[in-house]
Amino acid sequence: MGGGIAQVVAGSGRRVSLYDPYPGATDRGLAAMRKSLARLAEKGGGDPDEVLGRVGPVEDLVAADLMIEAVVEDASVKEDVFRRADAALPAEAILASNTSSIPITSLAAATSRPDRVIGMHFFNPVPVLKLVEVIRGLETSDETAAAIAGLAGELGKTPAEARDFPGFVSNRILMPFINEAVWALMEGVAEPEAIDTIATLGFAHPMGPLALADLIGLDTCVAIMEVLHAGLGSDRYAPCPLLRQYVQAGRLGRKSGRGFYEYR
Ligand SMILES: NC(=O)c1ccc[n+]([C@@H]2O[C@H](COP(=O)([O-])OP(=O)(O)OC[C@H]3O[C@@H](n4cnc5c(N)ncnc54)[C@H](O)[C@@H]3O)[C@@H](O)[C@H]2O)c1
Repeated sequence: MGGGIAQVVAGSGRRVSLYDPYPGATDRGLAAMRKSLARLAEKGGGDPDEVLGRVGPVEDLVAADLMIEAVVEDASVKEDVFRRADAALPAEAILASNTSSIPITSLAAATSRPDRVIGMHFFNPVPVLKLVEVIRGLETSDETAAAIAGLAGELGKTPAEARDFPGFVSNRILMPFINEAVWALMEGVAEPEAIDTIATLGFAHPMGPLALADLIGLDTCVAIMEVLHAGLGSDRYAPCPLLRQYVQAGRLGRKSGRGFYEYR
């Protein structure tokens, strides 16, 4: 997601610093960007090198007007990034999170500028999907919300505002749908292909729930469902045991080469 976000922001003419402390992560992000930009160039998009020329990997958080955080869906890791960003970025900078479910209010509380902390939730694949869910924390200012909605528009996206409730709107609807598909698979109701065909042809979804879960990452799906489960307090949001088992087995979806389907 970080690579996709960097790509669309750089595509709008802005300079982007890409930070990820894990070895090889920024290189993988840049390689994915190059591939995606090449595909877009074939369809009449701009010059990939021009866009990539505006993206620079950095070794630590640096001064910028805006941070868009897209690290793993883990509250303590994100809070730590927000604490460090609060120290590294100028006082007037906005700190945004691409989180799928973690409360914006608690990320804001890790900083000295809760009025300038906000959720800016992109959708996967970022260069293709047009939605940005904008989530205000308890103390997010009108100016911050307007700036992020304005930026989303300049990136060619449509902003939709949601309140800071577990899973916001998108994942509160999507995750139970994916989870129910996994229950159907676990209970032997149908094979993965049949479940996904029913959603694509029956509901006119571009992708079935199991293929979509593989695209999102099964570990990310479990992490989001756990936030929904704890935050909304109902067992209907608890991740299906089969989903947990796939994650335990390292079958994380596309990113590991295997989830409900195999990827080469
Ligand atoms: N996958 C999706 O479809 C999707 C869609 C919308 C939002 N999101 C959200 O985007 C975020 C990232 O999801 P993803 O699917 O790209 O996950 P991912 O596991 O593919 O990538 C997470 C990245 O975070 C990096 N990271 C871990 N700790 C870090 C730290 N302390 N500082 C900097 N980088 C660190 C990892 O090296 C990794 O490259 C999550 O909050 C997720 O909920 C994901």
